[in-house]
Formats: sequence, structure tokens, C-alpha cells
Amino acid sequence: MKVLIVYASKYGSTGGVAEAIAEVIRGRGHDAVVHEAAPAPAPGGYDAAVVGSGVYMGSWLKPASQYLEAHAAVLSGLPVWLFGVGPLGAENPQPAGEPEQAAKLVESVGARAYVTLTGALDRGRLGLADRLIARVVKAPEGDFRDWEAIRDWAHGIAEALEAGAVTATAPTAHAEAVRA
Ligand SMILES: Cc1cc2nc3c(=O)[nH]c(=O)nc-3n(C[C@H](O)[C@H](O)[C@H](O)COP(=O)(O)O)c2cc1C
Repeated sequence: MKVLIVYASKYGSTGGVAEAIAEVIRGRGHDAVVHEAAPAPAPGGYDAAVVGSGVYMGSWLKPASQYLEAHAAVLSGLPVWLFGVGPLGAENPQPAGEPEQAAKLVESVGARAYVTLTGALDRGRLGLADRLIARVVKAPEGDFRDWEAIRDWAHGIAEALEAGAVTATAPTAHAEAVRA
């Protein structure tokens, strides 16, 4: 199986998530290619796609949402999984829940699922405006990426592909919820 993984990031943490997903998929004997959406190659010729973005002010970064938009026709014919990297904090990551935009993104390409994964924040690396916002919302600093959750999710993708039943795979409870 050939899997294309596309992501958008401002400060790099989403790239780390994309690489971890690729590593799991490769570890199961598939071909996984990771590209930053700036811009990424078209999804034609791939068996599946995984697209994700760091979340800022409740939205995906433009290069990722524009990638879905630009390639919606091809992506709609492939099994696609989406992920957003955002909430910060170890105990009770905030903001909780999916961005409002998630349902629309899922619908735009008929994605199998949308998952929210905790992110990372290094104040020293932020631009001035972002640092100000982070201070105002009291965003916790640290790397809260949950590698086990990321790898579990990636194994789920590989399992769906290996089952060869991707078109019949029941979406996750969350995907059902965001589609409803
Ligand atoms: C200015 C700013 C706004 C943010 N807004 C959100 C948000 O609305 N929702 C969310 O879940 N995370 C938000 N975050 C957290 C980021 O999504 C998180 O740090 C993520 O790991 C960043 O990804 P990146 O390093 O790939 O750019 C925000 C972070 C900053 C600095």
C-alpha cells in the first residue's frame, strides 16, 4: 500500500506527528511518504491519504485546508484520515473537543475519521503575535504530544488498509459524530 501523509505546521510539532504516523505504517510493510503542504504532491497514484494540521484559533492552517480543497475530487475516491494537532496540557488538554471546522473537513473529502491530538508549545519559538495570544489564553508550555495515542491511531489506519475493507470500514464513533 502507498500512503501519502500531508501536513501543515507553523512550529514543527505537527511534522513530528506526521513522521510518527509514517513510521508505524512503514513498520507494517507499507510505503508511507510525508510531505509538508507547501504545496504537497497530488494524491493520484496513492492508495490512501492522511492529512493533518496544527490548529490555530480554532482552524487548520491554510496550506492543509487548501490541499483538501484542491484535491477533493481525487481524495474523495481514496480512504482518507484527518488529524488536527492542538490542545495543550497534560491533565486536561485545552481547548477540549474538535474544532468546529472538523465536520466540514471530513465531509469535503468523505474522510474516514478526524482525530484531535495534543500538541506542543515552545514560547521561545513563537512569533510576536502568537506569543501574545498564547499569553492571553494562558496556553501551557511544553510538549504534550501523546506518542502512544498517535501510534495507536496509525495502527488503526494500517489495520483498515490491510483488511482491504477500507470502503466498508465503519467510521470511528467520532467520525460518526462529526458527520451527524
Ligand atoms: C497563537 C496560538 C493559537 C492556538 N490556537 C489553538 C486552537 O485554537 N486550538 C488548539 O487546539 N490549539 C491551539 N494552539 C496550539 C497549537 O495548535 C499547538 O501548539 C500545535 O502543536 C502547533 O502545531 P505546529 O507546531 O505544527 O505549528 C494555538 C497555539 C498558538 C501559539
